[in-house]
Amino acid sequence: MIELLIKVLLAYLVGSVMGGLWLRFMVGGADIRQEGSGNAGATNALRARGKGFAAAVALVDVIKGVLAVALVPMLVIPGLAEAPVATEWVMALCGVAAVFGHVWPIWHGFRGGKGAATLVGVMLVIWPLALLPVLAMWVLILVTTGYVGLATVLAAVVAPVFALLMGEPLSGMLVTFTAAMALTIVYTHRSNLKRLFEGNEHRFEKVMLFRR
Ligand code: G3P
Repeated sequence: MIELLIKVLLAYLVGSVMGGLWLRFMVGGADIRQEGSGNAGATNALRARGKGFAAAVALVDVIKGVLAVALVPMLVIPGLAEAPVATEWVMALCGVAAVFGHVWPIWHGFRGGKGAATLVGVMLVIWPLALLPVLAMWVLILVTTGYVGLATVLAAVVAPVFALLMGEPLSGMLVTFTAAMALTIVYTHRSNLKRLFEGNEHRFEKVMLFRR
């Protein structure tokens, strides 16, 4: 159990490395949490500083998700020969920890992003097949509505539904992990959903296929 806790803690620390804050030297040192939605993720990086910075932020945030589930669970911790926990569950727990690290980063006053890019990195490792319907849903909602937050929430909700449709067991790792992540994404996007209902959510009109 100590080995598992160490790995989960390491994954959380990896997730806490915020692209939007560590790379701010690229944009003159400004903290993008003081602007736009107050989010330290790639969407607000795009809003506040443009495409190049947003792409770099997204890359870092995706890569740390990959590392947290591809490398951290495989670490051999000397002197801790315990009854092994199934690797898929260790990976899932490390994935949750990395996303939580991104949302509540220890290095940055526990104020980070909303978890989406890091979750993409995690999914790339633990269930790349699901990224197809999830990203398709994300793109579809984005180009029809222009709302990134709404697209992200609906895409996250599609993942556990897809898992069930694929015949994954209800208490299996994939359904449990994607359902937990869907709830997390809905929670971290609560301000987006509130603004959406109030009619003042920021809209990326340029990406919309149909504009009024
Ligand atoms: O993942 C973040 C995105 O879905 C929304 O970001 O900055 O519009 O709140 P933002």
